[in-house]
Amino acid sequence: MQARILLIGKRGQVGWELQRALLPLGTVYAPDRSECDLANTQSIRAVVDKVKPQFIVNAAAYTAVDAAEHDADRAFIVNAIAPGLLAQEAGRHGALVIHYSTDYVFDGHAAGFHNEQSVTSPKSVYGSSKLAGEVAIRESGAAYVIFRTSWVFGFWGNNFLKTILRLATERDELRVVVDQIGAPTSAALIADVTAHTIRELVNGRKSFSSGIFHLAAAGETSWYEYAQYILEAARAAGRPLRLHPQALIPISSVEYPTPAVRPLNSRLDTSKLRTSFGVHLPHWTIPINHVMQQVCDR
Ligand SMILES: NC(=O)c1ccc[n+]([C@@H]2O[C@H](COP(=O)([O-])OP(=O)(O)OC[C@H]3O[C@@H](n4cnc5c(N)ncnc54)[C@H](OP(=O)(O)O)[C@@H]3O)[C@@H](O)[C@H]2O)c1
Repeated sequence: MQARILLIGKRGQVGWELQRALLPLGTVYAPDRSECDLANTQSIRAVVDKVKPQFIVNAAAYTAVDAAEHDADRAFIVNAIAPGLLAQEAGRHGALVIHYSTDYVFDGHAAGFHNEQSVTSPKSVYGSSKLAGEVAIRESGAAYVIFRTSWVFGFWGNNFLKTILRLATERDELRVVVDQIGAPTSAALIADVTAHTIRELVNGRKSFSSGIFHLAAAGETSWYEYAQYILEAARAAGRPLRLHPQALIPISSVEYPTPAVRPLNSRLDTSKLRTSFGVHLPHWTIPINHVMQQVCDR
């Protein structure tokens, strides 16, 4: 099997891991932003025409959630118009699009885990732009897989885990939100599941219908408990910290206002992905230990 894959967004958390995970599948062409800028429709068409991929994996996005509140035009261009155009181009070439979306398409008011049929009702510009991207891909007519994921972290890039580790060397006390619930999901896991899915599709082991699949680690936690776990894992890995885990203070979202409203309940039901592609999703703590080792060994 030799798939021809176009990867957009190779320098993001997920894109970085995709550069590794997609390699065994065939030829991966991964342009940087100077060659493929999602804000530039010409560059999107040019790169798809040049590569003539069988799969387009789009890991690029406008991910600055708070900044998007005052930069809606750009967020919609990158997160909605560009994915729609990429999918139209994929359709022209008979390629399948793999794209990533977010728990922020939900308002987070419902109880329990959201499945792929749960009603979407984003409360932020970022969430609205990502939902518009899902719709644009669906309406393009191209074959597609959209993975909705949550609370992404990894060794590469910026994320909550690395922010907590930095603040833990600077602060004696830290206030962290306790009433938002979700599952931290590692970029490496997302990339590996993406590669597994492509392999299943290429090998024809899966009768396929385009759709959305929730992809998040198993279990659930709050940002506060997640921060506690990070500090304890860092201490266990021998990293010197100023902040003691007991100096973490749980606060409510109301006490930590941000420009963009975040969902209180970000839990994603992943049973469709598990039954469709036979994927085992580990508990959220397991990949954290792995990334922690990488960070602490630097
Ligand atoms: N981070 C999370 O917690 C989270 C949660 C749920 C879903 N997601 C989704 O998962 C996917 C991957 O997220 P991530 O955390 O890996 O993102 P990330 O680390 O913020 O990386 C985003 C990437 O998009 C690229 N990009 C931004 N604007 C672009 C443009 N106009 N043209 C081309 N490339 C552009 C960036 O390029 P530069 O490096 O050049 O800036 C960067 O490489 C996204 O679809 C995101 O919405 C993320």
